[in-house]
Amino acid sequence: MPEHEGEDEEEPIGAVLFEQSQGLTDLDPDALRTALHAAVEVVVAHLAGVADRPVLPAIEPGSLVGLFPATPPEAAEALETILADYRALIEPNATQWQHPGFMAYFPTSSSAAGIVGELLMTSLSQNPMLWRTSPIGTELEQVVVGWLRQAVGLPDSYDGFLNDTASTSSLIALGGAREQAGLDASELGLAGRAALGAPRIYASEEAHSSIEKAAMTLGIGRRNVVRVATDGALRMRPDALAAAIDSDLEAGFRPVAVVATLGTTSSTAIDPIGPIADIAARHGLWLHVDAAYAGVVAMLPERRADFAGWERADSIVINPHKWLFTPIDASLLLTRRMERLRDAFSLVPEYLRTLDRSSPVRDVNEYTPQLGRRFRALKLWVLLRWFGLEGLRRRIRHHIEQAQAFASWVDADPSFERLAPAPFSTVCLRYAPPGPPRESGRARDERLDSLNQDLLEAVNRTGEVFLSHTRLDGRFAIRVALGQIRTEDRHVARAWEILRREAAALS
Ligand SMILES: Cc1ncc(COP(=O)(O)O)c(C=O)c1O
Repeated sequence: MPEHEGEDEEEPIGAVLFEQSQGLTDLDPDALRTALHAAVEVVVAHLAGVADRPVLPAIEPGSLVGLFPATPPEAAEALETILADYRALIEPNATQWQHPGFMAYFPTSSSAAGIVGELLMTSLSQNPMLWRTSPIGTELEQVVVGWLRQAVGLPDSYDGFLNDTASTSSLIALGGAREQAGLDASELGLAGRAALGAPRIYASEEAHSSIEKAAMTLGIGRRNVVRVATDGALRMRPDALAAAIDSDLEAGFRPVAVVATLGTTSSTAIDPIGPIADIAARHGLWLHVDAAYAGVVAMLPERRADFAGWERADSIVINPHKWLFTPIDASLLLTRRMERLRDAFSLVPEYLRTLDRSSPVRDVNEYTPQLGRRFRALKLWVLLRWFGLEGLRRRIRHHIEQAQAFASWVDADPSFERLAPAPFSTVCLRYAPPGPPRESGRARDERLDSLNQDLLEAVNRTGEVFLSHTRLDGRFAIRVALGQIRTEDRHVARAWEILRREAAALS
């Protein structure tokens, strides 16, 4: 138990908690302080030791359920017992997203700022579904959305709000697109309206699955997401987009939206946003930009050119919970068409109507499928002030430098191949030792696919680093995704060392 200035000996938490749990309300301030201090000690100890844990613990599916009682506790338990079980049962069985060796998918880091922000959020218990249910939640969100918008260099014609995930943000944006196309789908639905022509959404072969999920959810249907071909660098081909729209129009479909991805999930490719915006404008289509991962790079003045043209989009999604050191969840949806989102999602029953509304207010639930919301703006407000834009830029820049160094090591090693350009902080590669003489291209790919699957498993078994995979042009690719706030240069160098060592051991 930590000692605190000016405090006498503390009663054991268990006793305090037990005593107060017998009552009808919650802890008194002294007991709350004691409980929070105990939890803080656990948090600090975990983060201090996380790098020594296996980043991906060796767990068999289904083996954890049996660690816990099958029936709920009838009586109150002491906090010491709960925290001891947390340390014994929860922490070691977690995939360690806070580990500096977490280089899989896209890392999400809970920075210290984010942890403090989440604590404040939860203690204030706001639900900014209506302005009146949280005036500060609603208005601080406007402030923070404006700060983030300026940070990435977008004009003030963009408004927006915060959602849980990019999947939700894209769903909402495409709901707006569906209304913009005049389908009145939120009122009438789409079923049985064949005369309209099936609505179509265009996204590259590399676009994230959340776009298809949005189409599934919005009644547009997965099949009506047209996967546009990509070029050699895995970017959407504008000529293929234009051709797909023309052929759909001829066939009686109803084009609704184009989704461009700036930083695709597999390889972080950057769709050519300018030409795509021209095509969308020519056909009057909603342009949605999925910059969930890479959008924060627009904070770097020297990288703004990669985003030139995105200011023509109708909507843009950027996830602070990916590469802005914000604990999950926080996804920023920016749009120039708030009114369309409202057309798509507004429904105000009597019990949510604000009776004493003397001046217009924003009730954010009118723009979203769900009603209740978290006060995400608070943690972002803490985080933006804590780091300053300058501190965030420094870290993002550093992760890009780390990835460039990694890419150069791969390029310099003849037994490895890089499978895609690495414009941001993610490197896609495979181990490619020579095969038998006169091996066909296909046989080579098959051999390397299986070898690299084994390599990935071997690397992840070490527990020092966690990498994930994808397929690029049909080939199995290992992805090294940097962006965890705790990943130092030595961890990146170690990841490369482990990859090479495990690769050599397979041969
Ligand atoms: C480009 C892109 N868009 C969307 C998503 C979905 O993000 P979320 O988990 O926030 O829904 C991801 C996830 O990695 C992504 O890479």
